[in-house]
Parts: sequence; structure tokens; C-alpha cells
Amino acid sequence: MALNVIILAAGQGSRMNSQKAKVLHLLAGKPMLLHVVDSALQLNPEALHVVVGHQKEQVQQSLRHFPVNCISQDQQLGTGHAVAQALPHIDDQSVVLVLYGDVPLVPVQILQKLVSCVSDQQIGLLTVELRDPSGYGRILRNTSGMVKAIVEHRDASAEQQAIHEVNTGIMAIKAHCLHSWLPLLSAKNAQQELYLTDIIASAVANQISIATISPQLEQQVKGVNDLVQLAQLERWYQLQQAHQFMQQGLQLADPERFDLRGELILGRDISIDINVVLEGHISLADGVIIGPNCSLKNVRIGSGVKIKANSVLEDAEVGDSCEIGPFARLRPGTKMAAGAKIGNFVETKQSNIGTGAKVNHFTYLGDCQVGQHSNVGAGTITCNYDGAQKHTTIIEENVFVGSNTALVAPVRVGSGATIGAGSTVTKDVPADHLAIGRGRQVNIGHWKKK
Ligand code: UD1
Ligand code: CA
Repeated sequence: MALNVIILAAGQGSRMNSQKAKVLHLLAGKPMLLHVVDSALQLNPEALHVVVGHQKEQVQQSLRHFPVNCISQDQQLGTGHAVAQALPHIDDQSVVLVLYGDVPLVPVQILQKLVSCVSDQQIGLLTVELRDPSGYGRILRNTSGMVKAIVEHRDASAEQQAIHEVNTGIMAIKAHCLHSWLPLLSAKNAQQELYLTDIIASAVANQISIATISPQLEQQVKGVNDLVQLAQLERWYQLQQAHQFMQQGLQLADPERFDLRGELILGRDISIDINVVLEGHISLADGVIIGPNCSLKNVRIGSGVKIKANSVLEDAEVGDSCEIGPFARLRPGTKMAAGAKIGNFVETKQSNIGTGAKVNHFTYLGDCQVGQHSNVGAGTITCNYDGAQKHTTIIEENVFVGSNTALVAPVRVGSGATIGAGSTVTKDVPADHLAIGRGRQVNIGHWKKK
């Protein structure tokens, strides 16, 4: 049976108190809506429709790389009205799965199970027992346990509010059923909206049965209506990820203080200390050790690398057995060959550090190449920017750069050369030469202290 998925994402999300559309708020570094889109696409639907309205341009923009059909709901008149906007695009015999852009973590297997419940005589509804059901629509069942209706929290009597089984908002239903019952919805309710949930009562009146499915864990179907709920779901999601990686052999000092906002590829025997944030595409080879408070974004780290406390790496590649930090900053385009070292308060950008080279203290290397086994002394600065353009500094192999050297690019230091401490190097240095470019020291004897 053909499947069409409708994701509702037009609501304002006023309880977020934010300028940003609710469904674009990030969970594990990715907009909530894209979590839902990813799950929906795994079901291989004939079409995926996203109902957009509030902050439509930004929401559509976030979907530009996905095969989705955006449908406008210009006035947000309720979830039933939102589904009705998509319905003209869907064949009557198709199964429709309704998902909510603010319910981001429903497992694909549950959605599959829900879809497989659907027939002309049956609707699939995802419900869950919550310890605290407040805010959610409650599931009303008759004496024999059959679902008879959903009542929204704000419309529920005190007795109904005491029910803990709630509507997740997610349902699967034949399109022709929606065709028959959506036009019957009325806005005579507390929110004066056309509630999708009211079609359940219509279905029951027409002898259609409601099959309910529940998730294993309540967080899998939790909706996000405010920033407190978003933070709670984020922590839950991060802990799940942490536990999965720990099962695979990742050692985490504290799984509660682990944040992965992207994809992680892991070797064996890796350990990560507290408060490490990993973003984008991260790959860590065997034996990598990451100290506390590090931030890594889009990096590939070779085996046996040690990254010490408070280091920040972005768009960088690090070869085997390198050492980094503490307090190092590797900016985009940094590449370290095997066994290289970058120490404290060193900033690098668009730079290649050769095999076994050392850049240990207080240094800025921008647009720079450091040859193998060269040593860059403390306080060395590449003057790579002349106010208009960037220029390259080349330090060949086995060079010794004395402390507090300024390398005024473009400039090349030949292999085996030595630069005296405190030099300002404005001219190329030939191989094996000693370059000294600084004022001579004068010692004056007859002078008076003020
Ligand atoms: C909804 C359900 C409630 C359920 C809860 C689960 C209804 C009437 N209520 O309530 O039973 O327990 O979800 O999380 O369906 N939207 C539109 N257009 C609109 C209105 C909403 O696209 O006109 C979208 C929103 O962007 C959101 C979703 O539909 O993604 C749900 O809307 P929301 O207002 O958050 O509904 P709840 O009050 O949470
Ligand atoms: Ca909601």
C-alpha cells in the first residue's frame, strides 16, 4: 500500500518564547524537524509533505536538501486544518502517517508498526502512559477497553485529566477516512481550533477500530513545547548515545557530561573525559585520549593521539601519535603529520605541521607549513596578513625558530636554518644559515634612575 507522510510544522510554538520557529530549534545540533524528516524518509514514502506556516521561509529553507513537498497553511487553525491542507495531494487509497515536527525522536520501527495496523476498518494510534500527562490529549476508552475518543487537556474534565494514557499526536489512517471526517471538525473547543484528534470519535461512530501502539520509552514520543522540555529531551538523547558508544567500548568519564551533535566514528580503547563537545563529522582512531573541556568539530584524529584539557579543534586532521594542548586552538585547515606536537596557547589556521615537528608554546601559525622535525619556539608569530591579503610562510625541515620570532610573510626558511630569538624575519633564510634580525643590545653604565 502506498504511504504518504504528513509532518505538521506550521504552528508558532508560542510557549518557546523565541523568535525562531519551534521546529527549527536544535536537538543534538540538528533542527527537531530534520530528525522527523530523517525518520520519515526511512519509511520510503511515496511522498513526504511538510505543512509549513509560521516562519515559513526559514522552515522551507531548512528543508531545501530533502525530497519534501512543502504545503502552506497560512492561518494556523489547528492540527486537523493542517492535515486538510495536505490531503488534496494524496490519493484516496493511500495510507497517511501524520507526524509532528515537535515530536522528534520516534523510532522508525514504531512508525512501521503503526503503518502496518492500517486498513479500511482500522486506524493506528500511537499512545503512551505518562507519569505526568499534563498538556497532552487524553485517551478515552470504553468499559471494554476500546478507544472511543481523545480529549485535549484544556477541554478535559477533572476526571478525564486524571487519565495517564495520552495521545502522542502520531497516527496512521487511510486517506479516504480523512476525506470523510476532516470536513466534520468543529472549532467549538477551548482553543477554538480544528483538532485532528476529534476524528477518532468520528471513526468510532463509523465502526472503525482504533489500534493503539506504545513505545518502549516515553521519551521516544515526547513533544517539545518549551525550552525546559527541549533541554530534558536533549539530555535523554545524549545519554542514550553515550550508553550506545560505551557498549561499543568507548570509555566516558561521565556519560552525563558527553555531547555529540553529529556523527562519531570510533576505533578501540578511546577515552573521553568530562565536558567534551563533539560536533559534525568526528572520527577517532584507536587509543585516542581526550582530556576535559575540549570542543571538536569536523575532525579526523589518528591513533594514539592525546588531546589535553581545554583544546578547541575545528576542520582539522591530526596524524597518529600527535599531542595537542592543553589550551590549544586548531582552526580550519590545520593538518598535523604523525608525531607532531602543538602545545599550550598555540593557534593554527590553514597550516601543515610536519612529522615530529613541535610548536609548543604561545604561537600563531596562519597559512604556514612547518617541515618535519622543525621546532618553533615560544611566542613565534606568522605575520600572514598585510591588511589586504594573506601570505604564506614556509618553514622547511629541521629548522629551529628561536623564541619570539616574527615571520613576515611571504617568507621561506630553508632546511636546517636557525633563527635567533627575537628576530623579525622579512627576507628568506637560505638552508643551514643562521638568521638574526633584531636590534643589538646596548648596555649603558652612566645613567640615572628617576
Ligand atoms: C497535540 C495534540 C495532543 C497531543 C500532543 C502531543 C491536537 C489537537 N492535540 O497537542 O492531543 O497530546 O500534540 O504532542 O492535535 N500545527 C500545525 N498547524 C496548526 C496547529 C499545529 O502545523 O494549525 C503543528 C505544530 O507546529 C506542531 C503540531 O502541529 O508541530 C502540534 O501542535 P501543538 O500546538 O504543539 O499541539 P499540542 O497542544 O502539543
Ligand atoms: Ca506540541
